[in-house]
Amino acid sequence: MTVTFFVPRDSGALALGAEKVARTLQDEIVARNLDARIVRNGSRGLYWLEPMVEVETPAGRVAYGPVKPSDLASLLDAGMNEGRTHPLWLGPTEQLPFLAKQTRLTFARCGITDPVSLDDYRAHDGLKGLEKALALSPLEIVTQVTESGLRGRGGAGFPTGIKWKTVLDTAGERKYIVCNADEGDSGTFADRMIMEGDPFVLIEGMTIAGIAVGATKGYIYTRSEYPHAIAVMNEALVVARRAGVLGASVLGSAHAFDIEVRVGAGAYVCGEETALLESLEGRRGIVRAKPPLPAHKGLFGKPTVINNVISLASVPVILDRGAAFYKDFGMGRSRGTIPLQIAGNVRYGGLFETAFGLTLGEIVDAIGGGTATGRPVKAVQIGGPLGAYFPRELFDTPFDYEAFAAKDGLIGHAGLVVFDDSVDMLKQARFAMEFCAVESCGKCTPCRIGSTRGVEVVDRIAANIEPEKQIAVLTDLCNTMKFGSLCALGGFTPYPVMSALTHFPEDFRPAPVAEAAE
Ligand SMILES: Cc1cc2nc3c(=O)[nH]c(=O)nc-3n(C[C@H](O)[C@H](O)[C@H](O)COP(=O)(O)O)c2cc1C
Ligand code: SF4
Repeated sequence: MTVTFFVPRDSGALALGAEKVARTLQDEIVARNLDARIVRNGSRGLYWLEPMVEVETPAGRVAYGPVKPSDLASLLDAGMNEGRTHPLWLGPTEQLPFLAKQTRLTFARCGITDPVSLDDYRAHDGLKGLEKALALSPLEIVTQVTESGLRGRGGAGFPTGIKWKTVLDTAGERKYIVCNADEGDSGTFADRMIMEGDPFVLIEGMTIAGIAVGATKGYIYTRSEYPHAIAVMNEALVVARRAGVLGASVLGSAHAFDIEVRVGAGAYVCGEETALLESLEGRRGIVRAKPPLPAHKGLFGKPTVINNVISLASVPVILDRGAAFYKDFGMGRSRGTIPLQIAGNVRYGGLFETAFGLTLGEIVDAIGGGTATGRPVKAVQIGGPLGAYFPRELFDTPFDYEAFAAKDGLIGHAGLVVFDDSVDMLKQARFAMEFCAVESCGKCTPCRIGSTRGVEVVDRIAANIEPEKQIAVLTDLCNTMKFGSLCALGGFTPYPVMSALTHFPEDFRPAPVAEAAE
């Protein structure tokens, strides 16, 4: 029987040497005359174990990692092809605690299937959501999405069904589905993982969106820093077109839908939906004033759904299993699952999909295993560069949009960046202002000028020049940015700054002068 090995083609794994591991494994297979094949899967999301090699055995998949090319000879000598033990043996993949504790709905196939095999996709429940959607009216599809409680995973948490309903109800001779795959938030990689590990789920979600609102064309807007995701997406689009999933007649239906990948040069503000539209139309990425909403007047002035990758990739399971199934997960108004991206100075960094409601402490300590350096956790920044820094005192906050907002934080795209006690929060506050100054599109004054003034004020605090007065100026400046900025880049930069000041005031005060040596 042919043995199947899995070596990820995910860029996180590639960065850690997966390509060389795959090539060496292939050489060993030939040299040993083994009846074996290698599938280049997506990552399972356990990045500290990458490159993680798996083998299919009659009892299920067995994992080894992290594997170096030089380990392969000894792994095969030890019987890796039969799942036998070795110092790098991790055990049955599904039983690895980091995976066993997850609820994978959106990432159900990621790391399991061959990302560009439509047969594999179908064999793992792929296209069932689209097939069900084709039997429904547009309004019924939108109602399913609304009732599931799905909220946008790109940052703002806006109900996806309501956005779709607006586009459905807006007349237009053309409508568009735009997938926001810009993924600019620090410490986030869920969009990339889906595009590299399960591109068909995004294609399926976008196609369902198109059928629901009456759009025939979709664009995936991503960044040039994602070359592997772009390659896999384009490969999958060709396969989907050939198989009739996309094209003039979606799965033989009367609906037409096709998708193109568009690549931006990589500006943080181009993730903001209206700047994204400008960029997609070939102009510089500058934020548009709202109204009009993109749902009324979006891409090329036409009604447009703009959704994050994860929002769209969550739609197929909702249509397949039903709104009630999805809604059953989560807490409060945060329904379903959220793919947490655990990063920074953390022991077990990776992708952890779970129902909303785990506390921050459970995520950082129990799942993330604390810091990689072994030092105490001092702060966690949640929600990207515009997210607040939470101290340990807030670790009882459940992962829920409203609970985070109540503590002046945000979930954003669900990235968590962990810092140990060596971090200087004044420097982090400066970094937030500097980031805003560098990435500002320049359209409005509070952000364009405020961020540069913010850097200067923080520098004066650091230099111990009238620190109390400067802290008052910083607070005032943050209020002006928060309430006076046109978009969330300027409007949310105060979150990291003010949370650093509020929770770590000691870092904003001059260090006590060391006692003079006797
Ligand atoms: C500065 C800035 C950057 C953003 N970057 C992203 C991004 O990279 N990806 C994303 O999906 N949304 C991003 N957003 C949010 C989008 O404007 C928009 O809310 C989102 O694409 C809507 O999709 P959703 O409802 O599915 O979340 C950003 C917003 C701002 C203000
Ligand atoms: S807040 Fe900043 S990024 Fe947003 S519109 Fe104003 S200048 Fe542009």
